Amino acid sequence: MIIKPEVMRGGLVKNPHPIGCKAVVEKQINYMKKKSCFSDKKRALIIGGSSGYGLASRIALAYGAYADTICISFESGISDKRIGTAGWWNNIWFKEQAEKDGLIAKNIIGDAFSDEVKQQTISLIKKTFDGKIDVVIYSLASPRRTDPKTGITHNSVLKSTIGEISAPTLDLNKQTIVSGKMLEATKHDIDETIKVMGGEDWQLWIEALKDANVLAQNFKTTAYSYDGADATDAIYKKGTIGAAKRHLEKTALELNYMLQGIHGEAFVTVLKALVTKASAFIPLFPLYGCALFKVMKQQGTHENTIEQIDRFMRDMMYGNKRIIDETQRVRSDNLEMDVNTQRLTNEIMAKMTAENFKKISDFDGFYQDFLELNGFNIEGVDYNLAIDSEALKTKQP
Ligand code: NAI
Repeated sequence: MIIKPEVMRGGLVKNPHPIGCKAVVEKQINYMKKKSCFSDKKRALIIGGSSGYGLASRIALAYGAYADTICISFESGISDKRIGTAGWWNNIWFKEQAEKDGLIAKNIIGDAFSDEVKQQTISLIKKTFDGKIDVVIYSLASPRRTDPKTGITHNSVLKSTIGEISAPTLDLNKQTIVSGKMLEATKHDIDETIKVMGGEDWQLWIEALKDANVLAQNFKTTAYSYDGADATDAIYKKGTIGAAKRHLEKTALELNYMLQGIHGEAFVTVLKALVTKASAFIPLFPLYGCALFKVMKQQGTHENTIEQIDRFMRDMMYGNKRIIDETQRVRSDNLEMDVNTQRLTNEIMAKMTAENFKKISDFDGFYQDFLELNGFNIEGVDYNLAIDSEALKTKQP
């Protein structure tokens, strides 16, 4: 079987290239292997660790803190009809390499929002991690969540809390700018998005782990957030997703208080804008990303996913260069938020048209990152080589 990217309407790549995904995971591991470690050995749980920032966190902890890891993710595997999701393959390749390097790596595929997966994880911690974990990274991005107490499924939406706004974006399939709008959110929309992307589930996780007595002394947990610049303010900070992130921040303060007895800490970390499965579909965000990448690459401050997470963990999670804002959030997005960077990014965005955007922004870099999410266009991978799907079917995460 030869696999080519199947691009759907709006630009989503439907199918991953398993061997390309392997190369992407290896690239991130190799980046970490060249660096010194930033911590002594850790036992880590990554909730949402199969792609994007969660995967980079798992790799950074494994190779920067000798961490044994458990990853929770919601992915589907290979069948006669489908090749599986990119996250499925990322889990497999990470585990294969980590085990070769003498680390424990466990994958739980299931709904992180459910009580069952929480209990399954606790059993695994007791069985394989001497009953304790040192760090939990909460990196979920999900369109829906079933509340385990009520059984009701809530849906998150990307809407505006300040009235309907125009939100042009990139159609990555047609490689063109398309006009679009963000509809005004109702109170129900805001509540639903908070239910899915707010802090409730993070809190349930930490409470369940604490009640099971599996949190080690000096335990740390962080949930990832984005804050956004002026250019994305209306769609992000003042959108339903921003409302959910404010809830996440309130949760961090409560969790931080709850963890004092074990000298633990909980905080929200604001990360840099990057291309991931989740972010590529936020209106306006891709245009901002293309302009931002251009400026940050020119200034030599651009970081890809693993570079951003490595710096966050090395300097701010385990190091002594933590940047904290007035709401106690850790600001690893400091280079993106630099005043000059923002000014230059805004200048590019103001000039962007359907005709010139590829030339004046870093569309090529943004698009490359987008293809990499599914393992395409990676140097050294022969895409004309047939994939042995029967051999791949024998691999389990
Ligand atoms: P992603 O889409 O690459 O990863 C999401 C992860 O969540 C995957 O591992 C997926 O399997 C897992 N997941 C989703 N639903 C699940 C469920 N029900 N049960 C178990 N696992 C489930 O997303 P990305 O972009 O890495 O986002 C992670 C976090 O980082 C989000 O909170 C996001 O807001 C934040 N962030 C993202 C930025 C960006 O530019 N991409 C910037 C700053 C923060």
